[in-house]
This record gives sequence, structure tokens and C-alpha cells, in this order.
Amino acid sequence: MILDSMLNGMPRPARRKVEETLDNISVVLQMRNPKVFASMAPSAVRGLLLKEGKNRDVIHMQSSHPVTFDTRYQMDFPEMNKLYRRAVANQWDGDKDLDWSTHVDPLNPEIPILSNDFISDEALATLPVRLTSAQRGELNYNIACWMLSQFMHGEQGALYASAQVTESVQWLEGKFFGATQVMDEARHLEVFNRYLNQKLNKVYQINDNLFVILDDLLTDARWDFKFLGMQIMVEGLALGAFRTMHNLSQEPLLKNLLKYVIRDEARHVHYGVLALKNHFLKELSEQERREREDWAFEVAVLMRNRFMAHEIYEEWFEGMISRQTWNELVLSSPAMTLFRHTMFERLIPNLDFIGLMTPRIRPHYEKFGMLDFIKGKNASQLSEQDMVADLH
Ligand SMILES: [Fe+2]
Ligand SMILES: [Fe+2]
Repeated sequence: MILDSMLNGMPRPARRKVEETLDNISVVLQMRNPKVFASMAPSAVRGLLLKEGKNRDVIHMQSSHPVTFDTRYQMDFPEMNKLYRRAVANQWDGDKDLDWSTHVDPLNPEIPILSNDFISDEALATLPVRLTSAQRGELNYNIACWMLSQFMHGEQGALYASAQVTESVQWLEGKFFGATQVMDEARHLEVFNRYLNQKLNKVYQINDNLFVILDDLLTDARWDFKFLGMQIMVEGLALGAFRTMHNLSQEPLLKNLLKYVIRDEARHVHYGVLALKNHFLKELSEQERREREDWAFEVAVLMRNRFMAHEIYEEWFEGMISRQTWNELVLSSPAMTLFRHTMFERLIPNLDFIGLMTPRIRPHYEKFGMLDFIKGKNASQLSEQDMVADLH
């Protein structure tokens, strides 16, 4: 409150700087483990301070991950081989399998691109702003464009990360599967880009926090961190976000597109758990395993708290409410609650399956209410069909 009244007297650009800085500091203060923060610091400087994701059209990232060239040509990972065969059999064509002739009017209230649940009417009523129903429709349309733009940026990150991982993994079947994932991610980038540009006509820049995570993963030389971050954490986040969006939309082309993408992503997480279980259980020392366990927890908390659609706030509500009030509004929105639930019900069993949920770390997850999901099914127990069976 005191902060709010101090900020109110400031010119808008100065106020934005102060609010952003306070917001970023609060992220640092939330981090339990300084080592994890230190490893992310260079990406945080590029993303949050220099805002490279927003200020540059072309961004060069340096990675020095190892390339594993295997001359043994052994095939001794049958479960991975099965997954590869499934990936080959389930390839689809973004141009032919989706009906691009569908007419999409993002402002038609009869076929909402995104329901009012992202920010509920009750939550909006608490703000000192009143929106007309036309403005309300436009806000939902903008939020949908924002979400889909972030999906598109995330898919570009996934394309490069999967290419890097394909070079690094030591199993031949893992390289085969990785190549199918590279194709999948390229197709995802293609269809999100096409939907945004041909049907919605509005693209948002990459969110700073998403940029930090992608930059961190693409520049980290340790392949298994890259793998853990991308295949388990970010893919888990993406799956949760795609499923939430699918259930909040009534637009048939978007729903169908998301369904195709979700099937592919389910395989990618499956690949992640198979590879990492093998690696963590057989090849790491206890200290190395613990380091990964701490890292995964911090990233889970970051992902839970950091996707606040600040670009929408700046466009619609800046100057009317504080960034802090916006954060609270978004965090408590029905869609975000659904999103967190969908994300963690898959992520936690996966972390447990690969050995990163020992009694040492569980109390920390419990504080965020994330431990309730531990008994759920992990990705190796769920097929692509299971992942889309309960969509509505
Ligand atoms: Fe993808
Ligand atoms: Fe993926």
C-alpha cells in the first residue's frame, strides 16, 4: 500500500523500471538455493536487464555441449526404440491434416478463442476499471495472442534444444528419437506461427522470463541439465499450458491443432523420463543427483510463479493498477489455477520416476502444495491417446 502510493506519484517510465526491478528482486528472494541462481545469472542479465529477447531481432546464443559420436552402433534400449517407432508412425502434416480454410473471427463471442476464465468477471470487478463487453472480448483475444505467441517462442527454443540433445545423448535409439522430435518441434513452430499470422494477426514478443529459461537451457553445456530442463520441465509446462488452452477455447481449428501438438509433446516427455532415469540412477554420484534435485525444484517454483502476462498488463492496465496487484490477479485466476494443476499433476510423478523427489526435497514441494500430485501417473505410463482422452 505504501509502495503503491509512492509509485503513484512517479512518471510512468520511472514507475515501470522500479516495479520491474522490485518484481525481479522478489524472484531472487524466493530462490532457496543460491547455487542455482548463480548458474542462471548470465541468462537473467541477458533476459531481465538487457531485455535481449525484446530488443534484438536476431539473438546469438553460445553453447559448448558435447557431441557424442558412437561407433558401436549398439541397440540395447528397447523401450526407447519402441518410442521411436511410435514417433515415426505418428508423424503428421501441419499443412494437410489441419483445416486451414476454417474461418476464424477472434472477436466472435459465439466461438470464443479463449473463455472469460483467464481473468474472471469477479476478479475484473475488483479493479478500478470497467470494460465494455466489446473491450472484454478484445482483452480475451489479446490474451490468446499472447499465450500462443509464447507457445511459438517456446517451440523455437524446443527446436534448438532437441537438436542439441540429439547430438549429446549416448544411446543410438535416443538419437533416432531425438531426430523425430526435431521434426515435431519444427512442425509445432510452423503451425503456431501460421495460426497467429493467418488467423489472429497479432504476435507478442517473447516474455522476459521465458527468454531467461530458454537462454539458460540453450547455453548450458551440461547435457543432462539441458535435458532435464527441456524434456521434463519446459515440456511439462508446455503440455499443461496446451491442455489448459485447449479446454478454454471453442475455436475448432485451434483445438485440433493443440490436440495434434499435445500428442507429440506427450512422447517428448516420455523420452525425457526414459533417458534421465537411466542416466541419474546408473551414472551420477549422490552429490551430482542432489544438485539436479535442487535445480529442478527452483525451476518448478519459477515456472509456477513467473508467467504473469506482463505484456498484457503493460498494454491494458499499467498506470491503473500496480504490477503487484496484477500478479495477484493472474495468480488467483481460474485458468492459472487449472494450468498449475494440469502442469504439476504430470511434472511431480515424472520427477519422482527419475529419482529427483527424495525425502530431502519433498517438504519444499509440500510448501507450494505440489506434493499432492506424487501418486499420479508418470509419462512412461501414459500414451499419446491417454493425454488427449480427457480433453474437452
Ligand atoms: Fe513442441
Ligand atoms: Fe516438445
